[in-house]
Amino acid sequence: MSLIQLPSQEETATAPKVTAQTLLDRKNAHQPITALTAYDYSTARLVDQAGIDMVLVGDSLGMTVLGYDSTLPVTMEEMLHHTRAVRRAIRRALLLADMPFGSYHSTTEEAVSNAIRFIKDAGAEAVKIEGGRNRAELVSTLTQAEIAVVGHIGLTPQSVHRIGYRVQGKSAAAIDDLIADAQALEAAGAIAIVLECIPREAGGLITSALTIPTIGIGAGPECDGQILVFHDLFNLTGTTRAKFVRCYADASALFSEAIEHYASDVRNGTFPADAESYHLPHEASAELLRCEPSEKASDELRCG
Ligand code: KIV
Repeated sequence: MSLIQLPSQEETATAPKVTAQTLLDRKNAHQPITALTAYDYSTARLVDQAGIDMVLVGDSLGMTVLGYDSTLPVTMEEMLHHTRAVRRAIRRALLLADMPFGSYHSTTEEAVSNAIRFIKDAGAEAVKIEGGRNRAELVSTLTQAEIAVVGHIGLTPQSVHRIGYRVQGKSAAAIDDLIADAQALEAAGAIAIVLECIPREAGGLITSALTIPTIGIGAGPECDGQILVFHDLFNLTGTTRAKFVRCYADASALFSEAIEHYASDVRNGTFPADAESYHLPHEASAELLRCEPSEKASDELRCG
């Protein structure tokens, strides 16, 4: 068994903070960027302490945490609530928050004010929006408002009713289109782009066409970094795994076993044990024992 020593919270706190510049430096130095989603304080703390570079509060929380069947119902308030919880845990990683469906799809003013809430109220350091050339103008406006933006192209889950959950970029023309999308986002000021569910070859071509980093999820190893959904990594989704997911530990089995064990201990009276119970101080216990059963009823207040 290998014992991996995680950095302590103090060590993580003193490690250099990851910024947009760090991500760029990593691309230029060919050092892979690590990214993972997190949605709550306790798991975000583990993710940050493990030295992950970028933590995304993804709108995938709609499915993984809130039980919706897509990301579409996720609201601004839900995203802000979870982003604040993750913010309290993160010391070193760059904190990225997903703008939910509907929060940047109507007016530019509304998109900017929603993005500002992520930065100002929830402590995110960048926001992620889905879409290509159609979002370039918005990326530029947000960037001019000093908001760091990460793009997201390929399979964009907020477009499920238009494109489905299908691998994108499966022809030369489709790859050209994705490259044009990525370049438009880069020109507009995006600090990085998530590439989701595209052939490895497309991931490589887009990555080499850009000066900003690409973060792949199902986009092959040539991307500048990789991101996965926390619940996929730990077999916590209860759904069939996508091809690109690698499950690193079976938390489902671990949790289920522990819960069943606990329930069985309660049912058979072995939990809580005496050692897990509080006890009266010696004097109070002696006083309680001095009370005769007949006195107990009449002297309830004194002895009870
Ligand atoms: O919401 C999310 O988890 C994402 C990942 C697929 C990158 O956007």
